[in-house]
Amino acid sequence: MASKVYEWLDERLGLGTIYDTVLDRNVPKVNWFYTLGSATLFLFTMQAVTGIFLTVYYVPSPDHAYDSIQYIMNGVAFGWLIRGIHHWGATLMVITVFLHMLRTFYFGAYKFPRELTWITGVILLLSTLGMGFTGYLLPWNQKAYWATTVGTEIAGTVPFIGSFIESILRGGTDLSAVTLARFFAVHIWFLPAVIIALIGVHIYMVIRIGISAVPSKDD
Ligand code: HEM
Repeated sequence: MASKVYEWLDERLGLGTIYDTVLDRNVPKVNWFYTLGSATLFLFTMQAVTGIFLTVYYVPSPDHAYDSIQYIMNGVAFGWLIRGIHHWGATLMVITVFLHMLRTFYFGAYKFPRELTWITGVILLLSTLGMGFTGYLLPWNQKAYWATTVGTEIAGTVPFIGSFIESILRGGTDLSAVTLARFFAVHIWFLPAVIIALIGVHIYMVIRIGISAVPSKDD
């Protein structure tokens, strides 16, 4: 029965071809450092799933943000677990994406023909840091408020355009409901859209070109 369903779908969707192209590829002899990209992909998926669940109860307004998080932690079934995974997943993802970048750099994987994989990677790294920065404000507690005050102040020290950047980030001169709404929108819509699109290009390049071998003494 299952094989009949598979055949029916395969005839229409070409599942076998997708499997062969995506998973049944020749790979050079690699080591554990090559798992860091997939680890990052796994963590991003976890962040997306837990983040979607968090939006069910989180309210992005100064009056309700803090209380809605307290409710997630104490009132919602397994809310503490979902938030905990999202919190620690964020930290882990920053670590794995950074280590993955170091791996590709030290193994020279950024060279021809993988420059585009590297360039999309750089934007992915910056977007991941942006996710951390925007997510940090959302609990709207003292730590979040003052960390973002300092973070946006640092952006304000950029020569010439600093105060412009600071006011765009804050949506005014001080942190307010506008800042929270802005950070929330960027955290759940803008940056995830950029990250998903870029992961698509990044993985397409990995599949198309194949991964680099571990550099040897002769390289
Ligand atoms: C959300 C972030 C990212 C995800 C999900 C991701 C995912 C992946 C995966 C699954 C691979 C293939 C397996 C591997 O080599 O680990 C890969 C390869 C690669 N990634 Fe990333 N990556 C990310 C960020 C980055 C960053 C920040 C850089 C560098 C600035 C980068 C540069 C590369 C390069 C050059 C390769 C090719 C490696 C090779 O051919 O040996 N990636 N990435």
